Amino acid sequence: MKLMELYTTMKKDVQFIENQLESEIRCDHELLSEASLHLFKAGGKRLRPVFVLLSGKFGTYDLEQLKYVAVPLEMIHMATLVHDDVIDDADTRRGQLTVKSKWDNKIAMYTGDYLYAKALTIVTQLHNPKIHQILSKAIVQMCIGELEQLRDFFNTNQSIRNYLLRIRRKTALLIAISCELGAVASGASEKISAALYRFGYNVGMAFQIRDDLLDLCGTEKQIGKPPGSDMRQGNITLPVLLALQEDKLREPLLSEIAEIQRQEGNYDASTAIRMIRGSQGLELAEQMADRYIAKALRALEGLPNSKAKKNLTDIAHFVAKRSY
Ligand code: IPE
Ligand code: IPE
Ligand code: MG
Ligand code: MG
Ligand code: MG
Repeated sequence: MKLMELYTTMKKDVQFIENQLESEIRCDHELLSEASLHLFKAGGKRLRPVFVLLSGKFGTYDLEQLKYVAVPLEMIHMATLVHDDVIDDADTRRGQLTVKSKWDNKIAMYTGDYLYAKALTIVTQLHNPKIHQILSKAIVQMCIGELEQLRDFFNTNQSIRNYLLRIRRKTALLIAISCELGAVASGASEKISAALYRFGYNVGMAFQIRDDLLDLCGTEKQIGKPPGSDMRQGNITLPVLLALQEDKLREPLLSEIAEIQRQEGNYDASTAIRMIRGSQGLELAEQMADRYIAKALRALEGLPNSKAKKNLTDIAHFVAKRSY
C-alpha cells in the first residue's frame, strides 16, 4: 500500500505542493538545479508536506498560505538527506544514485546548502517570526542529532535514553513541527497546535525506530538502498542496544562490532546483523515503536473528529507497519 492511497481526498492539494516544490527547486544554475531535481524526481513519501496540509485542516485551511510551510519543510528534509548521504557515505537513496554518488561530496554539500537557503527564502514570505523560530530551532537540533550520532559511532556503552534523544533530534522534531506549523499557519489554537506537535513527535520517534529496524531486516527493494549500512558504519541503533542486553549474545556481538570498527569497512558485518536478527532486540524495538504510535494516537483524542483526523490516524498506523 502506498501512503498516497491513504489520503485520496488530498490528492489535488498534494499535487499542487509537488508542482510548487519542483518549480521552486528549479533555478538558473544548471548544476544546482539538476542535482536537486535528481533527488526530487527519485520519489519519496512527501510525509512532511502531507502532515502540514492535514494539520492545516484544524484551522482555517488555506493552501496558498500552507504552501509557504509545506514546501520549505520538504526542502529542509531533502537538504538533510543530501547531507546525510555524504555523512553516511551512501550510494543509493529512493532506489537511485545519491547526489554525492552521481556527482561528488563537495557538490552534495552545496546542493544541501542550496536547498536549505531556498527553504528559508520561501518561509520568510510568511511574516510570522514564530514560524521562523520554530523552524530554525528544529534545524539546529537536527545538526546536533547528526553530530551526536557521529560521536557515538561504535559506542556500545551508550544508553537507550541516548539513542532516543538522538532520534528525537535528527528525525522526530522535524515531523513534529510539520504538524505544528500546519496548525500555526492556519491560525489554529495553541491547544490544537500543541496536540498536533505531540502527535508528530511520537510518529517521528516510531518512524526512525522503524527505519532503523528496516536497515537491519528490510530488503533493498523495500528501502531503496542496500540494508545493513548502519551496522557497517557503526551506527548503534535500538535493536543493537537491546540485543547487547542479552547475556548470551553480549560478548560475541561486542567482539563482532569491535572487529567491524577495527577493519574500517573491510570486515563483513553480516555476522553481527545475523546475531541481532536472531535476538529479542527486533521484537522489543517494534514494541517501542508501537508504544510511540499509541501515544501519537492519544494526542489526537482531544481534536474534533474529521476526515483529517482519520487521515492522520491512518498514517500513524501506516508508519507503525512501514512494510513499504
Ligand atoms: C528518511 O526519511 C530519513 C529518515 C528520517 C528516516 P523518509 O523515509 O521520509 O524519506 P523519503 O522522503 O520518503 O525518501
Ligand atoms: C535519518 O537517518 C536521516 C536524517 C534525519 C537526515 P538515516 O541516516 O537512518 O536515514 P536514511 O536511512 O539514510 O534515510
Ligand atoms: Mg544518517
Ligand atoms: Mg543515512
Ligand atoms: Mg536509516
